Amino acid sequence: MNFKNKIVLITGANSGIGNALAEKLIAEKYYVIGTSRNGKIENIKSKNLFVVALDVTNQKSIENANKLIRNKFNGIDILVNNAGIGPDLDKTEPDLESLRATFETNVFGLVNFTETVLDLVNQNGKILNISSIMATLNRTAKIDSTAYRMSKAALNMYTKTLSARLKDRNIDVNSIHPGWVNTKLSTKGAPLSTEFSANGIFKLIETEMKTGTFWNAELQEEMLW
Ligand SMILES: NC(=O)c1ccc[n+]([C@@H]2O[C@H](COP(=O)([O-])OP(=O)(O)OC[C@H]3O[C@@H](n4cnc5c(N)ncnc54)[C@H](OP(=O)(O)O)[C@@H]3O)[C@@H](O)[C@H]2O)c1
Repeated sequence: MNFKNKIVLITGANSGIGNALAEKLIAEKYYVIGTSRNGKIENIKSKNLFVVALDVTNQKSIENANKLIRNKFNGIDILVNNAGIGPDLDKTEPDLESLRATFETNVFGLVNFTETVLDLVNQNGKILNISSIMATLNRTAKIDSTAYRMSKAALNMYTKTLSARLKDRNIDVNSIHPGWVNTKLSTKGAPLSTEFSANGIFKLIETEMKTGTFWNAELQEEMLW
């Protein structure tokens, strides 16, 4: 399928990987609906960008975002669930505050927002959930970032169940590890640029892939769950 000129909704498009992906997609002639909490994406000036304020942890904000999107668009082709937080990254012991905050955004918020826009996703469309290699179950020897790892593992299960649910609409749902990327979320020493990561995710957007796959966008290979 040719995805050129398609409409892509990216959450958290004001910063980091989401921002670089928005820039890449616009350069490749896609139309981007980019969300940010403050309703601004200052660095991209393009008629192919529509900015929507969205805090996925806030029900009113989800409803308002839906109104704005539905006033302007009858459907979207690709949803990239990119917005996420990692308050306990590198911490070795889990704390309840981080667990709650991380799940509010990375799991409850993401799922809640996705379910409200599911009917907008066109037949043959895609949903890409930005997960992390840190959720891979064979990396359990690591002891850090419990809340973050748990949240992305939960997200991966959502990818699986949603991919099965949406098979009859031919909508592919995949989890993606974007690489260890230098952003305001990442821990010190992240080697990859947001542009590199966005290029890797872009390849997946333009490739047909089995639904329900966990994909490493850095190495361009399927990953273990
Ligand atoms: N960087 C890495 O090495 C790495 C590795 C694996 C996975 N990831 C994943 O990649 C995704 C993007 O992260 P990033 O590294 O690019 O970090 P980032 O620069 O901090 O971007 C995160 C984005 O999520 C938004 N966001 C946070 N909470 C939100 C909420 N409640 N509602 C709506 N938007 C919210 C942020 O908005 P504000 O600007 O308003 O905070 C920002 O736009 C995340 O899901 C992250 O877990 C990153």
